[in-house]
Amino acid sequence: MLKSILDGYRFCRPVRDNWTIVDTAGKLVQALAHGARVVPIEGSFDDALGIVREGAPRFRLTLVNSVNPHRIEGQKTGAFEIVDVLGDAPDVHCIPVGNAGNISAYWKGYLEYKEAGRSTKLPRMMGFQAAGAAPIVLGHPVENPETIATAIRIGNPASWYSATAAASESGGSITAVTDDEIMDAYTFLARQESIFCEAASSASVAGLIKQGVPEGSTVVCVLTGHGLKDPDLAIKAISVPSVIDLDLGSVLAEISL
Ligand SMILES: Cc1ncc(COP(=O)(O)O)c(C=O)c1O
Repeated sequence: MLKSILDGYRFCRPVRDNWTIVDTAGKLVQALAHGARVVPIEGSFDDALGIVREGAPRFRLTLVNSVNPHRIEGQKTGAFEIVDVLGDAPDVHCIPVGNAGNISAYWKGYLEYKEAGRSTKLPRMMGFQAAGAAPIVLGHPVENPETIATAIRIGNPASWYSATAAASESGGSITAVTDDEIMDAYTFLARQESIFCEAASSASVAGLIKQGVPEGSTVVCVLTGHGLKDPDLAIKAISVPSVIDLDLGSVLAEISL
């Protein structure tokens, strides 16, 4: 059943160059397994969000995207947890920016915690968009956003203004990282830190490496999603070993023992 549903997506794929259903199949599998009905559309994330924003109030449906203020209230508690663990706010907070809810939510959380006396300072919020999907950096929407980092492949972020406010009020910035920089950070995190995250998530570390921070700074990079949410990219990023003969000698020779 699941296979036939996914095959259906494949059938749809060639419609547009930036069609993302197959790219994001890893994210959909869980929803499909739970029996969700998923409706593929011929368009981008921004197109899909436009449709559900229009339709949700008409049918009294709850939209759970970051345009929903309850989601921001939930996400802001990530900042509370960071302060609880560190004992104070970090100096710098690095985060990927797609629809821009996350950066807005974390900043809200830091502000509220400081106001409540739980921290003594506020971090510089450093947001990172993918270079091919960097509307905030460019200052205008991007019609056909392109990046391997599917979770931040967004051309017109819903929380644009709160994100720029978070960056400017905190003395931070929103800048771009290339797909190559994202992939370098993705590989670095998997190999050096044993953290297998989504490409979009590694944009925060790619940005940190690119921009740098003063020595001695306390820096938090939020890694927003697990690598298995995008298994296709994970497979592309590795070289699959070739099959060898079925005997111990061949195995030992292969691993140079
Ligand atoms: C894995 C991952 N990283 C980054 C983001 C970007 O967050 P935002 O769209 O709130 O900017 C998202 C958004 O859903 C995500 O799923």
